[in-house]
Amino acid sequence: MIVKSLDHLNTISKKISIHLSKKDCIFLIGEIGVGKTTFTRHLINHLQKEKDLKPTEVLSPTFNLLHEYDIKNLKIMHYDLYRIKETKELDYLGIFSDETDTIKIIEWPDLIKTPLEDKLEIYLDYRKSEKEREMKIVRFGKWKNFKNEF
Ligand SMILES: Nc1ncnc2c1ncn2[C@@H]1O[C@H](COP(=O)(O)OP(=O)(O)OP(=O)(O)O)[C@@H](O)[C@H]1O
Ligand SMILES: [Mg+2]
Repeated sequence: MIVKSLDHLNTISKKISIHLSKKDCIFLIGEIGVGKTTFTRHLINHLQKEKDLKPTEVLSPTFNLLHEYDIKNLKIMHYDLYRIKETKELDYLGIFSDETDTIKIIEWPDLIKTPLEDKLEIYLDYRKSEKEREMKIVRFGKWKNFKNEF
């Protein structure tokens, strides 16, 4: 689908946020600056508003690899794995070894091979127009139930 503007991206992220629950995982795939963090920011801010919390800053976890957000009973782990170049480094992070229920949103997930049940893969691409993006969504598990919603 074509994302026509930032507003449109915002609308899509809201529709997705409604269905997010513990243990979900979203992979964000696409070139530098295409909008992965922007999508995540909208999504997290929607969840915060939904739970009557003030929207916070959502900055890129490029250097820290991970930013965490506590949204009442939901915990969001926002990863940026751009700097991770080896599977060994990925293993050290133990992204999927925690026993807690957390929602994981992962930029640059290329090295991850762990099979995940309720995964959503979002592919973003540039278009000629600066404010537009091409978005492809690949659904796994429960996300197949929401095919016509976004
Ligand atoms: N329709 C759109 N969707 C997403 N981003 C857009 C759109 N139109 C313009 N932008 C702009 O593109 C930029 C996207 O930057 P962002 O940091 O989100 O990219 P990123 O994919 O996370 O990059 P990186 O790989 O460096 O982490 C922002 O400045 C945003 O405002
Ligand atoms: Mg980013």
